[in-house]
Amino acid sequence: KRVAVLISGRGSNMTALIESAKEPDYPAEIVGVISDKVDAPGLHIAEAAGIATKVLERRDYQTKEAHDLAIDATLHALGAELVCLAGYMRLLTTSFVREWQGRMINIHPALLPLFRGLDTHRKALEAGVRLHGCSVHFVTAEMDGGPIIAQAAVPVLPDDSPESLSARVLKAEHRLYPMALRLVAEGKARIEGDKVRFEGMTA
Ligand code: GRF
Repeated sequence: KRVAVLISGRGSNMTALIESAKEPDYPAEIVGVISDKVDAPGLHIAEAAGIATKVLERRDYQTKEAHDLAIDATLHALGAELVCLAGYMRLLTTSFVREWQGRMINIHPALLPLFRGLDTHRKALEAGVRLHGCSVHFVTAEMDGGPIIAQAAVPVLPDDSPESLSARVLKAEHRLYPMALRLVAEGKARIEGDKVRFEGMTA
């Protein structure tokens, strides 16, 4: 499957996807990286890996709809079949989400449905949970609310700061995202209403 990655920043999850896609039996190829920030560090990593990059900044479009239409056009030009959001820090319009529904996934740094939105590590520490982690889910109109494909948990340690916890979760993200994309690219995890239907997987 031809996969495009949307980023806004560092791009460490994007890098994990690029690395995994190099494996000979991996069912997806990263065909392009789109950033809404011209200075996203991830762009340099993608370029160094020989992957097509495109910057589409919000301020160059009059409306949010026009911005998302430009992203959509770029995805089509790349021949993308699947979209991975990887630290893309902007909410997508409902028409864009509808168009890509079932073919667009996101990684969120929390065990959903806990801690949607930003600042998840601080929220987890405040809540006093002893397990935290990350989730990969299909993107639907509801922010961080789409059906969950895969999750990984990490312990919350007594001395954790948001930073130390975030670093532990990030390591788990880098393993989880390639695994979840594999399931979707192989057609083993498909969206069905508000759930994921798994096929060809044994317990
Ligand atoms: C990750 O924690 C991801 O879960 C969240 O934003 C962060 C992006 O980091 N959506 P990176 O750009 O992949 O390094």
